Amino acid sequence: MTDTISDIALIPLPQNVKLKAGRFNAPSVLRIRVEGTPTDDLHPTVALLGQWLSQKDASLQWESAQEAAEIQLSLEHDTSSEAYRLEIRADGVILSGSEAGCVRGAAALIGLLDQGGWPCCVIEDAPRFAWRGMHLDVCRHFYPVDRIKRLLDLIALHRMNTFHWHLSDDQGWRLASKAYPALNDVSAWRDRDGQPYGGYYTQEDVAEVLRYAQQRHIEVVPEIEMPGHALAALAAFPELSCSGGPFEVANTCGIFDDVYCAGKSSTFQFLETILAEVVELFPGRYVHIGGDECPKTRWKDCPDCQAQIKAQGLQDEDQLQSWFVSRMGDFLQSKGKRMLGWDEILEGGLPASATVMSWRGIEGGIKAAQMGHDVVMSPTTHCYFDYRQSEEPEEPGNLGRIPIDTLYAYEPIPEVLNAESARHILGVQGNIWTERMPTWKLVEYMILPRMCALSEVAWSPADLRDWKGFEQRLMQHLNTLKSMGYTYRHPERLHREFPL
Ligand code: ACM
Ligand code: ZN
Repeated sequence: MTDTISDIALIPLPQNVKLKAGRFNAPSVLRIRVEGTPTDDLHPTVALLGQWLSQKDASLQWESAQEAAEIQLSLEHDTSSEAYRLEIRADGVILSGSEAGCVRGAAALIGLLDQGGWPCCVIEDAPRFAWRGMHLDVCRHFYPVDRIKRLLDLIALHRMNTFHWHLSDDQGWRLASKAYPALNDVSAWRDRDGQPYGGYYTQEDVAEVLRYAQQRHIEVVPEIEMPGHALAALAAFPELSCSGGPFEVANTCGIFDDVYCAGKSSTFQFLETILAEVVELFPGRYVHIGGDECPKTRWKDCPDCQAQIKAQGLQDEDQLQSWFVSRMGDFLQSKGKRMLGWDEILEGGLPASATVMSWRGIEGGIKAAQMGHDVVMSPTTHCYFDYRQSEEPEEPGNLGRIPIDTLYAYEPIPEVLNAESARHILGVQGNIWTERMPTWKLVEYMILPRMCALSEVAWSPADLRDWKGFEQRLMQHLNTLKSMGYTYRHPERLHREFPL
């Protein structure tokens, strides 16, 4: 079994592969058909497969067909599972699964396309983890919708399924607000060398991203940061701080003492109005409220915050943060959403409804899982794509170094967890903090090919993972990324085809 798997140059590695003799070479026009559905409109998965085929090999022609077709999609409507079965025969391809499963199988079909054809095989596959995510910070640098779509394609091509969109921070507010247009006129812009720098996503932009994500069966998780990382919002609404301001949108990195005041009812009115807008816009199950890196300096000296501590019978500022976050969790729950937060939300007591994203190592994740909370693992030791991947001085990056083999070796389920607690580890996520990534090319360079390794950690059975085999498969996979127009770091040398 393992021998034949290593002959299939797929990333992430499928659960089960049987390699067969022979090859299916694409005819001059490749016909694609969805079994049993009317074809008045192009089926979204046929359109997606067509887009990817053309992107990988511009000489491949394809059309949607009603009856005879070389690529047949057989949809199983009674399941939402991402499992799929892909059979490649000398005369064509049969792909079956749910809608989401067929999208995952389509990604595998693209990965296997080589010189205008495919090796005959049967793949039966399903993901190891339910949460296979990529985060993107669009606050430190702003990227327009067409770049977000490139990331969504990368996520889907790696059979991942979650996009965590970090939409507010000290350096910019990026989400359109009907209730508070000053967030877009003021908070979305910062001074950069005397010029305004920034931007935001309109409601139409968000709808377009959501449509694109939906076609790829990717869940979009919006993040609105609170109580800290709030300086951009406070620049427009200084009355929501403890001191009253004035403030400017940050044009340097760091952790700032001025945060939302936890004692003023106007803060909660503002944040609940914003979250109501977020809930209205985003159909997914989760809303991320940040919760990380919130200094308590201002709260300690603020009469309103101190009065809140008394009024709620709390002991200290940590409990005030926990109360703040719980209140937001209750609000989101009343709207049918689940609250996600960074692991600092454990401090002062973890709100009952919270799912935790463990980033300062894995301890927060372990503790939350043992308390029966769901957890997504994204520790700085393995999952931070802003950390350098190499020693090359040209490479941008923050703090430490995470080479691709370190990431590949990551096991998301901590050994100390028993089976019951381990079930709360939903999966794994890579985070892209963009302080040092002013261009989109740099974002791709920093995530590729490490994201390929992450996809295998997230998707493939742990006992099939094998670094040597991965390294070999990566060479063909990089050709796929190259032919599809992505920028990446070659694992053995700095990719010098673009200026860093
Ligand atoms: C984080 O990296 N501050 C969650
Ligand atoms: Zn205050």
